[in-house]
Amino acid sequence: MISESRIFKNEKVLSTEFLPEVLPHRESQIEILAGNLRPAAHGRKPQNTFVYGTPGIGKTASVKHVFRQFEEYSGVKTFYVNCWDYRTIHSILTKLSVGMGIFVARKGMAKDEVMEKFVEACKKNRKGLVICLDEADQIKDKNSLYDLFRINQYISNPVGVVFISNFADLFLDLEPRVKSSADVDEVEFKPYTLDEMKNILTARGREAFHAGVIEDGVVFLCANHAIVNGGDVRTGLECLMKAGRLAEKDNSLKLKVEHVKYVLPSIGKVKPKILEEKINEKEKIILKIVEGKRNLKSGELYEEYLRMSEDKITERGFRDILNHLIEIKLLHARYRKWGIRGRTRVISKV
Ligand SMILES: Nc1ncnc2c1ncn2[C@@H]1O[C@H](COP(=O)(O)OP(=O)(O)OP(=O)(O)O)[C@@H](O)[C@H]1O
Ligand SMILES: [Mg+2]
Repeated sequence: MISESRIFKNEKVLSTEFLPEVLPHRESQIEILAGNLRPAAHGRKPQNTFVYGTPGIGKTASVKHVFRQFEEYSGVKTFYVNCWDYRTIHSILTKLSVGMGIFVARKGMAKDEVMEKFVEACKKNRKGLVICLDEADQIKDKNSLYDLFRINQYISNPVGVVFISNFADLFLDLEPRVKSSADVDEVEFKPYTLDEMKNILTARGREAFHAGVIEDGVVFLCANHAIVNGGDVRTGLECLMKAGRLAEKDNSLKLKVEHVKYVLPSIGKVKPKILEEKINEKEKIILKIVEGKRNLKSGELYEEYLRMSEDKITERGFRDILNHLIEIKLLHARYRKWGIRGRTRVISKV
């Protein structure tokens, strides 16, 4: 028999994938998002939306929350796509078409054919659809979003898109024609204050732990650690989880401040760790080379990469990979004067 925990009522509530029923302090953003989708419930085109803000402040959770409720009450289909997994518009449209029950060959289809299939899928799906493209900064060639933006010219069923990114300048470099077709309503998510973080963790803690288990001061410490480390709620959740497990291991009846203090040093920013798992093998090798070194010139880094990797890439290919790591803020680059006329990039870990 599995012995019941005296500390945890439901530990899963502290996992980052868990989607709580209510999201305190995101009421106004949720209201805006719901309002932007609402026309689709009545057969009209929804307002495209761009949600941006720093990591771990409820962007994905809020959009998923709104999508869940919206689909329930309107019957309009909602699709969530993480662009880390689908990085070209081609693969995104293919995934959506397949999701709507249209057969699409995975490989070898021309751009126009993929678009045709998508239009066919949308037509079949009379109620229309709304799509979330999360981590949209990962989309290669963002100008190719043009087709998606203009979809409502081909079909009368409403289609709307919600983009999410950490970067406010996502659409800055779009070609003018694409930019003007985008028509996105920007919704900024601001970081939580310490008090807000405390309320959020208190609510999650109430669901996760048995009544009366959490000692005074525990939530404050976790919230403060989350704020100091960039404001990511996931950091606070990890503190609660690890401290809870320690209390359990200690056979304690309470989750104490001392448990939290013990685990805090092992918990830092969460987003870089998530990204380090998502990047590809080449990127992982580059990150490993940079680790522990300071002020590595990009040329030296390339040479070291060639030494370490069996998979030879051109300098151009290497630069693209390096730029991606800099873009997602796993690496940092500074320019230094080099020789008489040149300058070189100096790379370090963030
Ligand atoms: N207001 C809130 N109430 C309860 N939980 C929250 C709230 N805001 C965020 N969370 C929780 O924090 C974690 C991170 O939130 P989420 O995944 O939405 O972050 P994000 O803003 O999308 O971050 P990223 O930019 O890294 O993707 C999730 O477990 C989420 O449920
Ligand atoms: Mg997210």
